Amino acid sequence: MEESRNSVVISPARNILGSLRAPGDKSISHRYAMLAALAGGRSRFENFAPGADCASTLGCLRALGCAVERDAQGAVTIDGPGPHLAVPSGALDCGNSGSTMRMLAGIVAGQPFTSEMVGDASLSGRPMKRIIEPLTRMGAAIHSTGDCAPLRITGTKLRGIEYRPPVASAQVKTSLLFAGLLAEGKTTVEEPSRTRDHGELALRAYGAKVEKTRNAVTIQGGQALHPLEAYIPGDISSAAFFLCAAAIFPESNLVIDGVLLNPTRSALLDVLTAMGSRVSMVRVEEHHGELVGTVALGPGAGGAVTIAGAQTALLIDELPVLAAIAPFSAGGLEVRDAGELRVKESDRLSAVTQNLRAMGATVEQTADGWRIPGGQKLHGAEIQSFGDHRIAMAFAIAALHAENESRILDSECIAISYPGFLEDLERVVER
Ligand code: S3P
Repeated sequence: MEESRNSVVISPARNILGSLRAPGDKSISHRYAMLAALAGGRSRFENFAPGADCASTLGCLRALGCAVERDAQGAVTIDGPGPHLAVPSGALDCGNSGSTMRMLAGIVAGQPFTSEMVGDASLSGRPMKRIIEPLTRMGAAIHSTGDCAPLRITGTKLRGIEYRPPVASAQVKTSLLFAGLLAEGKTTVEEPSRTRDHGELALRAYGAKVEKTRNAVTIQGGQALHPLEAYIPGDISSAAFFLCAAAIFPESNLVIDGVLLNPTRSALLDVLTAMGSRVSMVRVEEHHGELVGTVALGPGAGGAVTIAGAQTALLIDELPVLAAIAPFSAGGLEVRDAGELRVKESDRLSAVTQNLRAMGATVEQTADGWRIPGGQKLHGAEIQSFGDHRIAMAFAIAALHAENESRILDSECIAISYPGFLEDLERVVER
């Protein structure tokens, strides 16, 4: 691996072999940190997600009156002010992080002051109407330009609502549950299709009562939280890159320890099984409602795979890497109902298509997905990351199976979620 300031060369590999621990889960880290602010007292998290996104959340929490410390081992201690946060002295900088902006918006909407939320160029182009509309219905006054950041949120004593978001989004659900915690009365969010449930589980871990029925979640406002100490499970969306790498080499053997196995996040394992890997899970335990265990992946047999409907929503962050390895699979991959990929950190639908084609792949892009035949041979290429961490990592994996080396441009963006990715990859790659 040759690394220059902002690009990295990936050469082909023979095999993936070894064991790893993935960095702490990003979705859980954001939520635990935000609730620590509202709980008051001292909360402490080991294996807190190391990327820039969760650092953006911690920066915003500092501005809202939390004392935040991070030690050399990655443990984060947060002393929260309790449900009444401090008036921020400046804008809340959410960086590249949609989770920070959308979920924290639910919390500042319930505070009796005005907050300014800003983000980088990518985040400033992402849709915020999905939170502006329901939070406004709950009583907040939100000013934006074209439903995008920067957001100016004047909070108030919110009223609980019943709401059915038009898009399946865990960020929206969590934002409204956090707002609901600070509101008068009950707040119910009924999802169009099931999404990750870390918001609900985190609220329960902090002592709140949350009622769940099939697709709806209800929280009663005004509940007090207690502080939390937790070890954050390994991020399966980060482990996904290595699992997908192992899936494309017939003699690979990879073990990932301490990884999140929450059923709303682990659909990837079913897809890899269907594509032709043998996946096993051992030492599965529950921590604060979250399942954690060891995953082993080796060679198996499989065929053509289609991902659509509710399954698409559950795999939203893993679709780029699944598409990037699909040409090497036996039966190919079809993805449908993934229009949301267009409004992630980049337009991931087009980014994947463009990079696969640069590597010589046949891929058909549809309005909301791709059709990618299996059994293809790809060559190395110059890969555009579009400043999107998951695109850069997805194509670092595809590059391992190409015929010659690839250069991933603007690879620094990997640090948004996984600063140690390239080093971890080198540990398990055989050349
Ligand atoms: C996340 C939800 C997903 C996902 C994002 C993290 C979360 O976004 O893409 O990386 O932690 O709730 P949406 O809720 O917008 O689908």
